[in-house]
Amino acid sequence: MCGIVSILSFEDDISKKLIGALERLEYRGYDSAGLAFIDKNSNLQRIRSVGKIEELRRRINKITIKSNIGIAHTRWATHGKVTEGNAHPHVSNGVAIVHNGIIENYQELKKKLLKENFEFESETDTEVIAALIAFHIKNGNNFEQAFKNTILELKGTFAIVAIYEKETNILLGAKKGSPMAIGFSEDERSYYIASDAIALSSLAKNIIYLEEGDIVKIEKQDKLNYTIFNSSIHMTKRNIIPNNVSLSDVSKNGYETFMLKEIFEEATIVRNIYNNFDYDINISDLDSISIIACGTSYYAGLLAKYWIEDIAQIHVDVEIASEFRYRNPVIFSNTLYIFISQSGETIDTLCAMRMVKELGRKTLALVNVETSSIAREADYMIKLFAGVEIGVASTKAFVVQALSLLLLCVKKQDFKIDFLEDLINSVLNNKYQLSHIAEKIKDSRSFFYIGRGINYPIALEGALKIKELSYVSAEGYPAGEIKHGPIAIIDENVYTIALAPFDKYFEKTISNTQEILARNGKIILITTEKARDHLHGLESSKNVYCVFIPDSDEPYTSFPLITVIHLLAYYTSKSKGYDVDKPRNLAKSVTVE
Ligand code: M6R
Repeated sequence: MCGIVSILSFEDDISKKLIGALERLEYRGYDSAGLAFIDKNSNLQRIRSVGKIEELRRRINKITIKSNIGIAHTRWATHGKVTEGNAHPHVSNGVAIVHNGIIENYQELKKKLLKENFEFESETDTEVIAALIAFHIKNGNNFEQAFKNTILELKGTFAIVAIYEKETNILLGAKKGSPMAIGFSEDERSYYIASDAIALSSLAKNIIYLEEGDIVKIEKQDKLNYTIFNSSIHMTKRNIIPNNVSLSDVSKNGYETFMLKEIFEEATIVRNIYNNFDYDINISDLDSISIIACGTSYYAGLLAKYWIEDIAQIHVDVEIASEFRYRNPVIFSNTLYIFISQSGETIDTLCAMRMVKELGRKTLALVNVETSSIAREADYMIKLFAGVEIGVASTKAFVVQALSLLLLCVKKQDFKIDFLEDLINSVLNNKYQLSHIAEKIKDSRSFFYIGRGINYPIALEGALKIKELSYVSAEGYPAGEIKHGPIAIIDENVYTIALAPFDKYFEKTISNTQEILARNGKIILITTEKARDHLHGLESSKNVYCVFIPDSDEPYTSFPLITVIHLLAYYTSKSKGYDVDKPRNLAKSVTVE
């Protein structure tokens, strides 16, 4: 959470590059933003604003910036409210810093600095870092040494970049727990430190991902140089790799929003993962599989549990990473531990994986961002091939997470990939019906998503999607569980989305929808064509609206159902006038606990 970008350059106006890069990082947080630079008279200047980056851009466009060193930040608030005063960069005595992460010992450090007469103006944990660097400078250290001393005193997680108005040719960065990359422009006239390669698309031809505890110094003399120090402050080398993220990966390609583009990619990316799936992982000899993840990735794991147990007859546990890592879990020897993450940076999933590794077990990661921390630290990796996912609500990544787990337990040559593509396309072609339904349901007080068996994890995913995009409470429930309490909520102001394809659970789920109708609840029934003859008049009830998808059997049916619930969440949010790509209070990459 929070996005960082910084530059040291031979060019004169670095602000446009910083703002452009910051906009590409907005998915990491967007409650406020800011930029600091050192002008030609060696004065540190700072501009901050509350709200999305376009507001910061507006302010910056009104002034002329002549500078070749700067840092910028987009915030997702942890410590301190969303105010301009809490927005980064934070400044102390000519030092400015941007930070992603949480400083756990900031209270203790702040007390010490207050005694030294340092002043604080924000409620953040971050401001203490700027003051601590300034404190070490005051005690006779140069900027580099003061930065290193500071980093060694910090507890918690961080990616930090700092500049100092009295040493204008040095940019310093440090990474522990939060991602950070160095970027090099093709002409070698600009070097960058940023949260990820997406920020640096179109700016950096090559990049280096820093490792845990690394500190980087970028220096400008007659040319730009960089030095990396490891956690013991010894000079070290890290691999330089090409920056594969192109501008088209991070553009909307004609779609109104990133989320819609990404839902429409669901039909094509299933083929990407299918074509590239040549992993030699034999699960048949395992006693069990343990899947650990957060949010939508966790639901992909739950979905796979049904397939793997059904098809391969192997017991599967699925756990939420933030719970798993703080329990004292029993770790089995013949169990495969799978960690799922779109971003590969979710801190709870990463730490859960590290815990399993420390206990001596091999780990397999399913990740979309192949250069991410989880991808790099796992023993084995399955790349998801979804392409860059920008919309904060995860959609296409869920589809490929589910499909890659399915491909672990079916014979690839028997899998009907053309058929699957057609199924998803048929839902995409039906988008107008779903946008029409969204208009009907948008004022619902709350939502239930119900399903039985394999439809239940999809119900959970549907509820999460509508909740995060439409800001109303929504619950995913096993359909049979509704009468054990939740049915009390049902009245004419509540819509239930019933996922009931014509499968072995169909009749039972239909009975549950009757129970809801009997209490004046309203139903959106998502079912398959074959069910038309088995609805017993349900479809003509004024409180029921049916969506029919083409007939198929498991494991195929789940995929068009997923696309339906993604489109429904998308259009509901749109019809309420919300920002679907950047829903309030959220960030895409959850790098704090
Ligand atoms: O990057 P990850 O897959 O590890 O992210 C996990 C969750 O933070 C993520 O799925 C989140 O729940 C999404 N906003 C859901 O749409």
